[in-house]
Amino acid sequence: MRPTDRASEHPADGVGGHRQMPGSCAALVVAAGSGERLGAELPKGFVAVAGRPLVCWSLDAIAAAGVPRAVVAVPPGHGAAAEEALAGSGGAFPLGLALVEGGATRSESVRNALAAAGEVEAVVVHDAARPLATPELFRRTLIALAETDAAIAAAPLTDTVKEAGPDGLVVRTHDRSRLWAIQTPQAFRTEILRRALDVPDDVLAAATDDASLVERAGGSVRVIESPPANFKVTTPHDLAIAESLLC
Ligand code: CTP
Ligand code: MG
Repeated sequence: MRPTDRASEHPADGVGGHRQMPGSCAALVVAAGSGERLGAELPKGFVAVAGRPLVCWSLDAIAAAGVPRAVVAVPPGHGAAAEEALAGSGGAFPLGLALVEGGATRSESVRNALAAAGEVEAVVVHDAARPLATPELFRRTLIALAETDAAIAAAPLTDTVKEAGPDGLVVRTHDRSRLWAIQTPQAFRTEILRRALDVPDDVLAAATDDASLVERAGGSVRVIESPPANFKVTTPHDLAIAESLLC
């Protein structure tokens, strides 16, 4: 069973007054990674979790959030298998579910998916590897675009963060109260993301999230505090936890 995030009022999101989803939007779900650290036989997004391919859990949440169209980036060479795995999810999207070939890096996969998003005001980028993102979290990131160029799911840090040199000696302790661990979903005004992704391949390859490219391009980015279960499935241990939460 998927945990819910029922809170409808999140003053911390910084959105005052009328709360509305953008007029048109699409989800870009990146599922084109190989899942090397998981070490499964299938690419990570298509490994079965609680009886369904991992990516299907995110697609359910996106459809339940009221996002009418989704584009999924799938591993090159896995198009037919991916189409079969996602056949049951298509009906949930009134404006369609499209599959595109992913790229060599995550950002390239996002760029490929964006090219197939159509003319929409906003897009929400999501890792297939986060199956516990709630519909409410998708909605909150999209709604926050009324006041910012990008709105990104984030968790406040609970561990103390220290910086160490190559010799292992600590050089600094950071002020944890201002630090966030960044996740997906990440919602963007489409034109801003398009411009942010229009950078040389080496810059694109070095980006570990899309919001950092928007920051680099001078856009405003707001954090949206996510519920605790929005972790990324990276290792077999993570997969076991996701399985137990989704069963
Ligand atoms: N991703 C992608 N295209 C890539 C690399 C990653 O679409 N070229 C996606 C993954 O499918 C995943 C998300 O980006 O949903 C986050 O990446 P990560 O957790 O690193 O997944 P993998 O790259 O598949 O895993 P690993 O790094 O262990 O190989
Ligand atoms: Mg990876």
